[in-house]
Amino acid sequence: MNQEIFTKVDNYISNLLATEDEILKQTINSLDRHNLPQHSISPNQGKFLQVMIALCNAKNILEIGTLGGYSTIWLARGLPENGRVVTLEVDKNHAEVARENIVKAGLENKVEMKVGKALDILPTLIAKNEVFDMIFIDADKPPYTEYFEYALELSRPGTLIVCDNVIREGKVLDENSRDEKVLGVQRFNEMLSRNNNVTATILHSVGVKEYDGMAIAVVNR
Ligand SMILES: C[S@@+](CC[C@H](N)C(=O)[O-])C[C@H]1O[C@@H](n2cnc3c(N)ncnc32)[C@H](O)[C@@H]1O
Repeated sequence: MNQEIFTKVDNYISNLLATEDEILKQTINSLDRHNLPQHSISPNQGKFLQVMIALCNAKNILEIGTLGGYSTIWLARGLPENGRVVTLEVDKNHAEVARENIVKAGLENKVEMKVGKALDILPTLIAKNEVFDMIFIDADKPPYTEYFEYALELSRPGTLIVCDNVIREGKVLDENSRDEKVLGVQRFNEMLSRNNNVTATILHSVGVKEYDGMAIAVVNR
C-alpha cells in the first residue's frame, strides 16, 4: 500500500460521492492566486462533515480556521436554509479571500465571519450565550486544548466537536518531538483521553491529503 493507491481510491470515492462543483474548484484555485497555503480539507472530508451535520441535525455551526472558505462552503451547504456558520479567521488576507469565495457561492447570508485571534473571539461568543450544534476546529495547533475547552462552553449535550489534523503523519507517536504542532495535538489528544464531558475517538485517515486524523467528540448528556 502506498500514497498512489490512497490518492486513487480517495478520488474514486469523491468522484462518486463528493464531486466538487465549479465554485469549490474555483475556491481551491483562488488559494494559489492569492498565495494562501493549500491547507483546505479534501472533498471527501467536506462530505464527511456534511454527513456529520445531517447526523446531529445541526443548524448552528462554529468553525475555527477559515482559510479561503473551502470547508466553510461545505459546512454551509450542509445546513438547512435557516442554518448559520460562524467562522473565525486571524489572517485578514485569508478572510478577504474567503469572503469573496463565500459571496461567489451565494452563502453570505448563512456565513458570519469574525476576523481576529480565536482565543480573543471565543470568550465574546460565550459572553453572548451562543450555543452551537457542531464545532469544527481547524486552526493553529498549539492552542487546540484551549479551543476545545472553549468549545465545551459553547456546547449543549449532543453537540458534536470535530478537530482536524490530530495525527500528523503518525508524528504524534514521537515522544521527543519538538514540533509545536505535534506538541499541541499530543497535549490535545491526552486531554481528550481524560475528558469525562465527552464521548470521543480519533478517526485516522489516508487519502489525497497526508496521513492524518480527526478527533470526533460528542458532548455527554
Ligand atoms: C488549516 S487552515 C483552515 C482550513 C479550512 N478550515 C479549510 O479546510 O478550508 C487554518 C487557518 O486557521 C487560521 N488561524 C491560525 N491561527 C489562528 C488563530 N489564532 N485564530 C484564528 N484563526 C487562526 C490560519 O490563518 C488558517 O487560515
